[in-house]
Amino acid sequence: MKHFINIKNIPSRDLKKIILDAKKRKISRKNFNTLDVDNDSPLKGKLLIQMFEKSSLRTRLSFYIAIKQLSGGALTLRPDELHLKKGGESLADTAKIISTFGSAFMLRTDSEQKLNILKKYMTIPLINGLSPKSHPTQVLSDVFTIEEIKKKPISKLQICWIGDSNNVLNSLIEASVKFSFKLNIGCPKKYEPNRDLLNWAKKNKSNIKIFNNSKKAATGSDVVFTDKVVSMNDKVNKFKKIKDFKNFKVTSMIMSCAKKDAIFLHCLPRGSEVSNDVFFGKKSKVFQQALNRIYVQKSILLYCFEKLR
Ligand code: CP
Ligand code: NVA
Repeated sequence: MKHFINIKNIPSRDLKKIILDAKKRKISRKNFNTLDVDNDSPLKGKLLIQMFEKSSLRTRLSFYIAIKQLSGGALTLRPDELHLKKGGESLADTAKIISTFGSAFMLRTDSEQKLNILKKYMTIPLINGLSPKSHPTQVLSDVFTIEEIKKKPISKLQICWIGDSNNVLNSLIEASVKFSFKLNIGCPKKYEPNRDLLNWAKKNKSNIKIFNNSKKAATGSDVVFTDKVVSMNDKVNKFKKIKDFKNFKVTSMIMSCAKKDAIFLHCLPRGSEVSNDVFFGKKSKVFQQALNRIYVQKSILLYCFEKLR
């Protein structure tokens, strides 16, 4: 079995295999209903336990539907329903019990440390469904969406991120190394990405440019991404941060700096970092992007169970 915790620690070859499997499975489901099972029923009898320490709409739904389509089942837990915290049951014991009852565990957490402890004690695959520092399932799915729409490998494209240096961008930086694509980042000077991560990327032959100007970052790009300025984990002065990002909103003027056929992506939920005309415009592929989470979660699950074809 394999964990899926960070893109950085997964070989490129495996990440590409996940994308390829998702492509094949999506094609083979044309005309299937949401809960119809894939013809090969690869995860028959398996139980995915998922737990959310923070809100989620897309990750919750997509993992639930993904395991069902693979012919397994899902159980969703809330941390306040367990004995963790108030009841004093340790994370280590909880990990052992979850491993005894379930076949895989997907966690959305407010702490990297919890992922590390769980990894130590779990004997079933552990999947990171968003942490303060990364959102790997989202970004892998976004690579899938980009290749699906652009009909070419992402390594031939220029990707632009305008906005905060948050968990989604961290995973995108890791993906830019693993999939060898150009990444332009547009953000205010004091919100640039983590230096250690950038140094890791540089050592691994990244092609990343940072601009403190959103027009320059978007120029010539095939894809423009953004995300909320204030993330769930942010303990900052929200009003000040939003003000600091006032020149980093994705508007139609920013989209016009990108290539003519550029697309707009956003992992959602959104705030005020994108204008309504871009969000609902022709270039926006955000709903296709959200739905594709199902297909990629399926192949991530199969990777964890070492059942990728
Ligand atoms: N993009 C994403 O992970 O959405 P949720 O927070 O709704 O799961
Ligand atoms: N950066 C956002 C992503 C939400 C899916 C957050 O962490 O709140």
